[in-house]
Formats: sequence, structure tokens, C-alpha cells
Amino acid sequence: MVGNYGSATSNESRRLVVELSSPNITSEFQGKHLRSTIIGACIGRLYEAMGWDVMRINYLGDWGKPIALLYVGWSRYGSEEAYEADPVGHLLEVYHKIEEDFKPEQAASKAARDEVAKEGEDKGEAQAEIESKGIFAERNEAFKKLEEDDEKLVAFWKRVRDVNIDNYTKFYERLGVRFDEYSGESQIKPETMVEVEQMLKEKGISEESGGSQIIHMQNIGAKAGTAIIRDRSGGSTYLLRDLAAVLERSRKHSFDKMIYVVASDNSVHFTQLTKVLEAMDMKELADKLQHVKFSEVSRMAATLGKGYKPQGILDACEEAMTALSEADAEKLEVVGGLDNVKEGLATSSLLVQELSTRLTTTHAYDTGAMASFKLGSGPDLQYWLAKLRRLLKGADAAELSDEDYEVLAEEDPANLLRILAQYPEVVNATYHSLEPAGVVTYLASVTEQLAECLSEDAEGDQDAKVTSGLAALYEATAVVLENGMKLLGLAPIAQSLPERADTPVMG
Ligand code: ARG
Repeated sequence: MVGNYGSATSNESRRLVVELSSPNITSEFQGKHLRSTIIGACIGRLYEAMGWDVMRINYLGDWGKPIALLYVGWSRYGSEEAYEADPVGHLLEVYHKIEEDFKPEQAASKAARDEVAKEGEDKGEAQAEIESKGIFAERNEAFKKLEEDDEKLVAFWKRVRDVNIDNYTKFYERLGVRFDEYSGESQIKPETMVEVEQMLKEKGISEESGGSQIIHMQNIGAKAGTAIIRDRSGGSTYLLRDLAAVLERSRKHSFDKMIYVVASDNSVHFTQLTKVLEAMDMKELADKLQHVKFSEVSRMAATLGKGYKPQGILDACEEAMTALSEADAEKLEVVGGLDNVKEGLATSSLLVQELSTRLTTTHAYDTGAMASFKLGSGPDLQYWLAKLRRLLKGADAAELSDEDYEVLAEEDPANLLRILAQYPEVVNATYHSLEPAGVVTYLASVTEQLAECLSEDAEGDQDAKVTSGLAALYEATAVVLENGMKLLGLAPIAQSLPERADTPVMG
């Protein structure tokens, strides 16, 4: 529970479908997928806090030509033995090898296409010629077979998909993220795609060109290039699958809103998606869609190198925690000692680093900066919450007397109270901006002011019990800190206080 700040009550709650993470099963879990996972999970919790009913979907990139290419690679380089030892690792290795082999053909095809653009002559015959041979042909043939339900290909695809989902699930668990549905491009029904295709033809939106079905986006009033619906060999495309996915999801979940948390490299795609839906007279549905985009540029691949598995992303953060130095010894002791809380600190640090980065900014993934208790960092938030828990152990939060209230009127406590009272407004603002960085900044300001209060306090006896007035203030601070941290996805390391019926909730 993150607290409820919306006006909607549960029986009139609106439904959000949020699509997050969506990695591609043939390649590494990229920085952009990590960002989508963390930002998307946070958006889900924000909407829940505002009273929405939230459905989380992981739309795996588990279909299309890359899977077919992996199949071609497997037939050349696949080894059951190596697969047994490290399934996901071996599949990545196979994929990288075949990608390498495929490069010269891709370059030749691109050159032929560029030539056509210049000369405007042979309508892509040279390109078609290149793609009718070699790995191109093998890959396209394999994809065709896959879409035709060929037993061998389907079995291969299923094996690859299952082993990856299995692996992802463990990774998401460590990160504290869950999904209501592991969907994916492979799960879109062929009937729905045919239905979309039919509508596009009937409404004169798509047309045939050199054997493919395409849409000239300018014909439907959008400067978004040419969209391909089916390729020359009749294969479905990313766009066709996504169009069908919108229909399927709206029928299945009857959502009021759907948010795609996807990197900016998909911007043209989502523009095409929305515009095509509008042209299909589905403006009402199109208006429910929102693409929350963020910079796809990430330092993660450079940090981890090629061939890493999703777990490697978290292992590197945990490894980084060992650099917490002697200077941090006191704080480490308060949170429970490095050995006991390394994993929790690592995840907290990663989450806060991710969420404090504005959406348009390059993805940091800077493990070198993670081992730190600096203001507003994950470890520091955990530290302050733990400190409050210790302080409040055995503190007496009885009815407050006039004298208790007087303490709260002094400058530092009064300032802290003022900051705490802003929490609902901060949540509300973030719900509108969908920039979680605001919550991080806010929580930093809570701990900063808390430190002021405590440093005054500490002039006396460290072990002295806090007075009732301050105990009430600190308890409220712990509640706000904990709610804010949970909103960001941080699991509090400190043990919770025993439940009290009248836990003060702001707002
Ligand atoms: N798998 C895609 C990628 O890695 C992201 C999927 C985005 N979602 C969608 N509905 N198209 O770029």
C-alpha cells in the first residue's frame, strides 16, 4: 500500500494498462529495458495511489525476424551441451555469431536500397535479388514457417521463449517488479491481424507495393514516413502486431488508459500506431494511448560488455556496494551491517539512480556512483528510515499535551512538519508529470530537514527517549519516508514499527 490520494473510490476506479520492460528475447536486456521496467513500475504504483486499477503487461519482443535469425544461427552454432550449461548465455552467443555473419548481406541490401532511392529505377529488384539468397533467404523462410505453425520452428521458439521468461522472472523478483501478464509479440492472434489488415484495405488506408502492404503516412495526414503492414513474403510486422494488440487489449481489459513506457527510439512507431488507429475511425481508442518516452541512450552495455544476462545488471550493483568505505561505517551499522543488507542497498541505490534521472537525460547506470550515502541516494534513504525506527523503538506516542505541541512550533520541527505536509501534493504533481525525479528530490529534502532536527536533539543525551511531541513528528516522518520509498519501489530494510491503528497519514 502506498496510500490513496485520489478521489475515485474502488467501485468507480478507472483501469490503466501499463506496458513496461518489454525486452527482446534474442538480445541482451538493454539499458532502455531496465529504465522502462523501473519507470513503468513506478507509474503503476502512482496510478494505484490515485485510485486506479492497474494492469501490468510485459510485451516481450519474442516474435519476428530476429527469432528466425536465431534459428538460422542455432542450426550453425547451437550446441546442446553448451545450452545445458548456460541456456541464456549460449543463446546470446549464438545470436551474436549469426549477426556477425549476416552483416555483409545487410550492408549489400542497404546499398542496393540507397541506390534505388538515388536512381529511382528498378523498383528494388536489386535489393530483392540480394534478399533472395544466403542468410536473408534462410531467415525469411524460417520466419514464414514459424508464422505457418511449422512444428520444428514452433518448438524452437517455445524453448527459447520459456527459458528466457524463466530467467527474466528471477531477475524481476530480485528487482521487486511483478507483472500481471507476460504477453509478447508472439501472443497476438493471427485472426486479429487479419481483421486489422482487412479494415486497412477497406478504408483505403493501406496499399500494395512490390508485394508488401504499406501505408504512406502522409496520405493519412502524418509526417511519419512509410509504414509496412506486411512484408513481401507475407510476414506480419511490428506495427501490424501492435495494432492488433491494441484491439485485443481493449477487448480484454476495457481500459480507460494505456501507457507504453518505451524508449524514444520507438517514437515514430507510436506516432504511426496512433495515426493509423485514428484513420481507422478509432480516435476514441487512440486518445486513450500514451507513449511515455525516455532517452534510449544508455551506458549499461559499455559497463557490462557483450553477452551479459539480466542478473549481471544487479550483480554489478551489489559488487559496487563493497566499496562502501569506513567513512560509512556508522551508517552501515544503523541499516544492519553490509553483509546483511548488501542486496537491499544495491537495489535501492540502483532504483534511486534510475528514478532521479530525468526522462530525457541519458541513462546513467553508473555503478561507480552507487556506493554512497550521499543526500537523496537509495542507501541514505534507507539509513534515515532505519535511524527513525531505532529512535522510535519504545518511544511513547501518547496523547499530546500543550507542551508537546510547543516543541513542534520551534523552527526546525515546524519546518519538517511543513515539508511533510507537502507529500500529497508531490505525489499529485508526479502523477501529472510522470517524472519520478520529483519524488526523489522531495525525499532528500525530508531527510535533510530531519537531520537538522536530530542534530539539535543530539546535543543532549543520545540514548534519551524522545519526547512525545517529537516522537509524533518522527513517526509521521517515518510514514512519509516509507510511503515515498515504496512509491519508488524501494523495499524498506528497517523493520517496520508495530502496526498502530491510527498511523498518521498526511492529506
Ligand atoms: N521490444 C521493444 C524494444 O525493445 C519495445 C516494445 C515496445 N512496446 C510496444 N508495444 N511496441 O524496443
